[in-house]
Amino acid sequence: MNSVTPSVGLEKPGSGLVDLSTPNLYRSGMAEETWVVFSDIHSNLEAFQAVLADMRTIRFHRMICLGDVAGYAASPKDCLDLLRTLETDVLQGNHDFAVVDDEILFDMSGPAVTGVRYAREQLSASRRDFLAALPMVATHGKLQFVHSSLDHPEAWTYLRREPEIRAHFAVQTDPVCFCGHTHIPGVFHLGSGDEIRSLGASGRIELPREGKVLINAGSVGQPRDRNPDACYVVYEKAARTVEFRRVPYDIDAAKERIIRAGLPKITAERLSFGK
Ligand SMILES: [Fe+2]
Repeated sequence: MNSVTPSVGLEKPGSGLVDLSTPNLYRSGMAEETWVVFSDIHSNLEAFQAVLADMRTIRFHRMICLGDVAGYAASPKDCLDLLRTLETDVLQGNHDFAVVDDEILFDMSGPAVTGVRYAREQLSASRRDFLAALPMVATHGKLQFVHSSLDHPEAWTYLRREPEIRAHFAVQTDPVCFCGHTHIPGVFHLGSGDEIRSLGASGRIELPREGKVLINAGSVGQPRDRNPDACYVVYEKAARTVEFRRVPYDIDAAKERIIRAGLPKITAERLSFGK
């Protein structure tokens, strides 16, 4: 687990607010942990900054990024550097891996490959090394975390359909697991009768006490659920709830930055449509 040591505080803690450079104020022995879980920033600095601003308005104890810091948009370096100022765990996504591995490029779309090649140019060797060294999975207490899926995380499987979700649940040993990768938020429940159902993808959702749940945190920088607002989740262990938070941000500025960087037009345009 790559736990990043805080360097520059983003902001002095205000009364009742959490300073994101030291969010783990209550890390040890905390019985009622609240986590913020975010994923798929994809070099979108405007979206990432807006999400961090939103996080400053809520109370939480720990944070984790589920990967894909790099790729697609215009600010891989700034997003990575900002991420590394936070006291957060970070997992590796397929775009982070692609920054250091050519093989995976064959499985990617044209705009994705262009975004990866751009990130390679923008990131120093030490930054690329940081991405290469990130773990693919993490476990904290009874919570599991992965970018794609727990069964063969290196295969970067998308958990969109029942067969793939069932294969994931077969190796999920704890009651709650978080993932990203599809950029589509949601909660899936595997009941005691082996049935899988969706519990929703918005607002605050109460999690069942039996069975297992898989929570997709959506995407900060490139949502694909037709809602262009940045997305992340807050998990409250004590209340056994997960809340999907949607954060509007300056999409036009993000699009302009993408175009100015010479990246594909579609990478900019899709941000307006959340797809
Ligand atoms: Fe992604």
